[in-house]
Amino acid sequence: MTTLEARPKVGVPGIAARKRRDGADPVVMITAYDTPFARIVDDAGVDLILVGDSVADNVLGYEDTLQVDVAQIAHHVAAVARARPRALVVADMPWMSYHLGPADALRNAAVLVRAGADAVKLEGGRRRLPVVQAILDAEIPVMGHLGLTPQSVHALGGLRVQAREPEAAAELLLDAKALAAAGCFALVLEGVPDAVATAATGAVDVPTIGIGAGADCDGQVLVLHDVLGLSTRPSPKFVRRYADLATIARDAVAAYAADVRSSAFPGDDETYHASPALRDSLAARGD
Ligand code: KIV
Repeated sequence: MTTLEARPKVGVPGIAARKRRDGADPVVMITAYDTPFARIVDDAGVDLILVGDSVADNVLGYEDTLQVDVAQIAHHVAAVARARPRALVVADMPWMSYHLGPADALRNAAVLVRAGADAVKLEGGRRRLPVVQAILDAEIPVMGHLGLTPQSVHALGGLRVQAREPEAAAELLLDAKALAAAGCFALVLEGVPDAVATAATGAVDVPTIGIGAGADCDGQVLVLHDVLGLSTRPSPKFVRRYADLATIARDAVAAYAADVRSSAFPGDDETYHASPALRDSLAARGD
């Protein structure tokens, strides 16, 4: 078994080949937005770290993901990259960073790569092909994202499960095949019925990474703040919360506040003591 210390940097070709139908282990992706959490998730052995535009609603206090731009994502990508993770770092291309044409999209993708991303992710199907092609032509790996695409929140009329009808499911399958044929190395499938994700997973030769897409995808992704119980919002059905760090953190800060108020902090061990000579000289000043 490979120890974590010996684990080599995860590469795009290795991820692109991870199909469970070929006997591969499921791909594990999770978000992170800063250096300490990038270290933690990397030490936990995830395959991919997604610097998601979900930083907007999970860290920056916005209502949706539409509020962050390339500079903000690049800032968080750089923080994650400074952890020097073995996991592949995927940067989300934020809303309006790839909607103005291939040249603009490529310039923005390059900003994210120069900030430390190994690959970029963008939302949408066949209509994104020219943009996907331009980014791939510059040797930047692209991850697709289909189904419930949060940057389309207004067009979709809310964040709701997609591809529930046969026509919409058929469109999604065409999108998945087109993105895979164009050269995307993996596809996120978000918020779709399990049978749709199963069909998409069977239809493409690159891994599908599900979030609210059932158990048959080639991998899974969750938002770190949901997994750790740091999110203050009610969790969607597909989230499994593995810890309640919000309660742990609040209790810790409340204990600190109580110690300060009762003068129990700082204690003797937490204090830099003056030498007797310094004490004497201060006392002699008589200030
Ligand atoms: O930004 C994000 O966290 C994402 C995941 C939900 C896939 O795009």
